[in-house]
Amino acid sequence: MIASTINPVDVKTRTPDTPQQVGRFPTVLGWDLAGIVITAPEDSGWSPGDRVIAMHPPQPDGSGNWQQYAAIPAAVLAPAPESVDLPTAATLPLAALTADQALQRLDLKDGERLLITGAAGGVGGMAVQLAAHAGITAAGLVSRPKHEAAVLELGAASAHSNPTSVSAFDAIFDTAGVLDHPHLLREGGRLVTVSDDTIPETLEQRAVIAVHNYVQHDSQRLRELSALVDSSKLALRVAEQYPLARIEQAHRRAEAGGLLGKVVLTT
Ligand SMILES: NC(=O)c1ccc[n+]([C@@H]2O[C@H](COP(=O)([O-])OP(=O)(O)OC[C@H]3O[C@@H](n4cnc5c(N)ncnc54)[C@H](OP(=O)(O)O)[C@@H]3O)[C@@H](O)[C@H]2O)c1
Repeated sequence: MIASTINPVDVKTRTPDTPQQVGRFPTVLGWDLAGIVITAPEDSGWSPGDRVIAMHPPQPDGSGNWQQYAAIPAAVLAPAPESVDLPTAATLPLAALTADQALQRLDLKDGERLLITGAAGGVGGMAVQLAAHAGITAAGLVSRPKHEAAVLELGAASAHSNPTSVSAFDAIFDTAGVLDHPHLLREGGRLVTVSDDTIPETLEQRAVIAVHNYVQHDSQRLRELSALVDSSKLALRVAEQYPLARIEQAHRRAEAGGLLGKVVLTT
């Protein structure tokens, strides 16, 4: 690995009493990966020196990405974007695939209005950009007024920090666990959430679809997302960068929140 990031799932996995728990110790965490191929089978399509990215979760045998060398199945690799360095490229895989797959599931039609909660965050920020790229009119809900401008810059049609002042949408992509404001979804609307929170009954009754979505491997789509970065249609945001040796400070920074971009780890 040359670089990885800290995702909320990493913080949850090392925190007791969360749904995401370590299967065995010792264990290495990390889902995002950007690196350089050192060795690969001849028929894998990859060669030493290739710059690659992957979404690759911690494995049952305790191996993971937050180490200098990682063994990754060739099938989950995609080319790293050529226009950014590898620490920046590491911010792409998990957040972009999560956002992309949730938007696919919402299947927005022409003229429908989408609300993205947590729009300044890792997944939300990708969703805002991918929605804009697909011609979807998306509003962003953020946690603090000072993040509204950043979300507009990513391509949101509007940005809001007060959920009570926003009217109903055709669809919601929830990344922040903002599920206690049923008025945000119109009757017969659609909700996809990637938060761990239970969807309240009031919202379920209102919606025609109200589901949790879980990110899946898709190296072909990751390749396309990487190309979107190179064509300047998807911006990658690094908030802070730490060497692995300062992993504790990196976790503290990621947990504190309020970031406009990801916390990146480098070897
Ligand atoms: N199911 C899956 O497959 C999957 C995949 C990836 C991620 N996830 C989950 O999705 C969630 C988001 O991930 P992420 O990487 O985007 O995290 P993130 O970068 O921390 O972004 C979350 C964003 O939500 C904002 N926020 C918090 N409370 C809010 C509120 N009440 N209203 C509006 N915005 C609010 C945060 O703002 P502040 O920082 O200012 O508080 C932050 O900008 C996490 O729970 C993660 O575990 C699930």
